[in-house]
Amino acid sequence: MNIPKHIAIIMDGNGRWAKKRGLPRLYGHHAGMKSVREVVRAAINAGVGVLTLYAFSTENWNRPKSEIKGLFGLLKLFIKKELSDLHKNNVKVKIIGRFFALPIDIVKLVKEATEKTSKNTGMILNIALNYGGRQEIVDAVNKIITEGVYKKVDEKIFEKYLYTTGLPSPDLVIRTSGENRISNFLLWQSAYSEFYTTETLWPDFKKKNLMEAISEYQKRNRRFGGL
Ligand code: FPP
Repeated sequence: MNIPKHIAIIMDGNGRWAKKRGLPRLYGHHAGMKSVREVVRAAINAGVGVLTLYAFSTENWNRPKSEIKGLFGLLKLFIKKELSDLHKNNVKVKIIGRFFALPIDIVKLVKEATEKTSKNTGMILNIALNYGGRQEIVDAVNKIITEGVYKKVDEKIFEKYLYTTGLPSPDLVIRTSGENRISNFLLWQSAYSEFYTTETLWPDFKKKNLMEAISEYQKRNRRFGGL
């Protein structure tokens, strides 16, 4: 029943979740990883085609080194623990972002995950890692210049140079923790996305919350600029 083909999530509020409990920020990220696990499964079961998760933005490098290290550690843990299950569930793992600027161990592990699942035909789990929407657009422009094939491009051609080439645009963008900003996320692709925000902090965002967001989406009347 009108399940969004592509859901993209800005997973926000891990730090505040930890602070509320008097815990270090990394505990919040760890709890956030558990939500990732549950929401991925819920999305598969609901029949979502693409789930994009904003795991690390180009701006996140401005955080303390220890937090960055912790976040990458959690990502590694997630892939190591979940890869075989994701594969069994026919999930195809994809990464968007300035991938090769990431630490070498992450690059290796992520490559293993994308290669292992490359032939899967189920849900695409698209992880935005070292991702920035403006950077994505600039990278696309530079690729076009370097290739030197086009003197002029249209939207259709331009989209082929984005990290998300081949994926549908997100129908629904969810942001947790009561913030109402796009924060450099899928700037091109979210032109007509429905935006859903909730006060719930990411570590508290579970299957029930995802289903609530989907049901709110189903009530929206999308006109894509028409009447
Ligand atoms: C925002 O919370 C969250 C992040 C910057 C990282 C999201 C990472 C995870 C959920 C962990 C693992 C990810 C995967 C894909 C396995 P914040 O730190 O900005 O929270 P705050 O605004 O309350 O400080």
